[in-house]
Amino acid sequence: MTHVTVLEHPIVSHKLAILRDENTSSPDFRKTLMELGNIMSWPVFSHLNVTPTQVKTPMEHTTQSVLVKPYPCIVSILRAGNGMADAFSASLPEAPIGYIGMQRDSDTHIAEPYFKKLPDQIEERQIILVDPMLATGSSASQAAGFLKKDGARKILFVCLVAAPEGIECFHQQHADIPIITAALDRKLDENAYILPGLGDAGDRIYGTE
Ligand code: URA
Repeated sequence: MTHVTVLEHPIVSHKLAILRDENTSSPDFRKTLMELGNIMSWPVFSHLNVTPTQVKTPMEHTTQSVLVKPYPCIVSILRAGNGMADAFSASLPEAPIGYIGMQRDSDTHIAEPYFKKLPDQIEERQIILVDPMLATGSSASQAAGFLKKDGARKILFVCLVAAPEGIECFHQQHADIPIITAALDRKLDENAYILPGLGDAGDRIYGTE
């Protein structure tokens, strides 16, 4: 059973309102996404595995938990995922970043893969798979499928906005992967855009149309 966690927090909601606003400019959208991604990274990273290690402070020896190696990695679903990957990477620069390129066919709304570059030891790492919009679930499901095919066993999927249709699709194929989102929206429109959503995340991040 897929767990869906909605990160309820006044600051998360406040930043999301800025991202949803059609009058928010692309530079402000990027800046706010960076801030929101950074805030979201902390509860997401609370799922990371740690192990105790010995540290000698200037005062004495102590035991302190550190991240298990190989370090977790962030995997961005191109291109909108990069906005979140940058924010997560700012909180955890130790994490290598992988990329999976998916492009939605404008007629069928089905995502097709065009690129994949992942860190080594993917089967050993905890993976934070990021894409701001879980719409049809096609891109996220396929990306998670690629990761599993390469041996990945521990994946978390993180988005800003999830549609019920996307959760359902993802759930059918990846019941083992928890979803963490800033918002659960109403539904998809006839073009598979999320309502109320925030429009095309990639275009809004990069100022393209
Ligand atoms: N991708 C987006 O960027 N926005 C949506 O609403 C759906 C998919």
